[in-house]
Amino acid sequence: MRKTPVGEVDNLMIVVAIDGPAGAGKSTIAKALAAKLRVRYLDTGAMYRAVTFAAMNSGIDLSNQDLVAELARESKMLLTDESVVINGLDATSAIRSSEVTAAVSAVAANSQVRTELRERQRRWIADHNGGVVEGRDIGSVVFPDATLKVYLTASPIVRAKRRVAQSGGNVEEIAAAIASRDLQDSSRSDSPLTQTDDAVTIDTSDRSIDEVVAQLVEMTNIRS
Ligand code: DC
Repeated sequence: MRKTPVGEVDNLMIVVAIDGPAGAGKSTIAKALAAKLRVRYLDTGAMYRAVTFAAMNSGIDLSNQDLVAELARESKMLLTDESVVINGLDATSAIRSSEVTAAVSAVAANSQVRTELRERQRRWIADHNGGVVEGRDIGSVVFPDATLKVYLTASPIVRAKRRVAQSGGNVEEIAAAIASRDLQDSSRSDSPLTQTDDAVTIDTSDRSIDEVVAQLVEMTNIRS
């Protein structure tokens, strides 16, 4: 197989960057798009969640940036479409717990952790010969020369209702938690959530998944 230097996007390789706030439909759309394009799917949020889970599990104080970063650098992480295993522990469900969800933004604001995970994301894409990558800084920082950059968004109420449908809870409380996480993710100094000028912005509030995926398949094919 042809190898691409880590961090560079070979123009024969498809990399679709999907960024946006929580609940915008990134995971569902990214997975469906990857299946249509016959490439792999990488959930980078799951990587930040896995480090958060492992740090909490080891009793590390999340505000101790050096210790959390050391754990990130030393962790063995295995991500597939179905599971997340960190240091031999299956964390697939645990990384979605409310405890991890509440703590993950602090870990995602740790620059040393971001440096490590960014490198792992680039290596993963080089090793898998491209893919659909979902996160917050994929088009802006991780893969600035991606084949296609997409910024997905949806109204706050739609995003909160989607989360409640997925995991239960009270719409108002979930809306407040999402707003707080959005604020942390977009106001941090290292690679905050932003919309790049060259990203296609899609508001998924009133659109079906199939419709959005079909549009993105077409756009990817035009650009690749
Ligand atoms: O998409 P998610 O909710 O699983 O992401 C979990 C957290 O990780 C969220 O607070 C944003 C952060 N994140 C990030 O900072 N950069 C990424 N590329 C992906 C996620």
